[in-house]
Amino acid sequence: MSETEIKSIQWFPGHMAKTRRSIKENLSLVDAVVEIIDARIPLSSQNPEMGKMTAGKPRLLVLNKRDMADSNVTDRWISYFRSQGIVAVSMDCKSGKGMKQFTSALENQLLKDLLETRRAKGMSGAPVRVMIVGIPNVGKSSFINRMSGSKKAKVEDRPGVTRTKQWVKLGDRIEMLDMPGVLWPKFEDQGVARRLAFTGAIKDDIVDIETLAMLLLEYLAENYPAALKERYKMDVSGQPGKDLLELLGRKRGMLISGGEVNTERAAIMLLDEFRAGKIGSISLEMPEE
Ligand code: G4P
Repeated sequence: MSETEIKSIQWFPGHMAKTRRSIKENLSLVDAVVEIIDARIPLSSQNPEMGKMTAGKPRLLVLNKRDMADSNVTDRWISYFRSQGIVAVSMDCKSGKGMKQFTSALENQLLKDLLETRRAKGMSGAPVRVMIVGIPNVGKSSFINRMSGSKKAKVEDRPGVTRTKQWVKLGDRIEMLDMPGVLWPKFEDQGVARRLAFTGAIKDDIVDIETLAMLLLEYLAENYPAALKERYKMDVSGQPGKDLLELLGRKRGMLISGGEVNTERAAIMLLDEFRAGKIGSISLEMPEE
């Protein structure tokens, strides 16, 4: 099967430069950087420049949307990141699961030394300040809203401190910059582009939707055949994506005159249902790869 034609997107260099500037400007104001990523694609949803841009600051990875990912695989990712010396937690910002683990990882692992030093200096009252970053659609706003509660408590203006209105309180001890740094993923790698497209992080108008659906079906047939059987009553046994898409359309009665399958309709339905989590909790990247 040919690769999907995912055009390499030319992000306006000016746009990226602005983000870089904004992160750099605010970096000196925070104790740590929290990068939100998608638990289904923990590598593809990271910005490759993040490490460089936030150099010198401790970074915590939040694998968000864990309700949509395969929990077994997510656990393996957390262990993998740990083995690399990276503090990572998983979270579901829709329900709020994982919030306590986040706070604990931030205070007891990532910033343990800093907080101990502050305590020793009698400065334990000073809040921990964090900056939230991530590519579009990973759940940055949901994270900030969830963590700050329904009534966002803004940090009050203090003389001498500029732009305090951008900080929101998270309990007594943590303050979050209420202005997430939005970064873009890297599209040059077709595998990365494809996985971002599966999750809807790349707009469908730049990809061929039927080819994308065929690739997703091939992946699901290989890794999650039971989910295809359960949702679509599809029996899969190594068919190419084209045949899988036809089978899916037929199962759903998506026919056009002459008994042919309307593969475009079937493709749109598959991707919509996948993105809505209706096919199940599915991971698109495995740490072992
Ligand atoms: P962003 O600021 O990083 O761009 O992301 P945002 O919070 O806007 O979230 C993007 C979408 O992802 C939203 O869905 C949001 O509800 C959903 N989302 C965020 N966190 C989670 C999570 O942990 N689990 C699940 N299942 N979904 C999550 P939307 O369709 O754009 O809006 P809506 O469904 O909230 O109406």
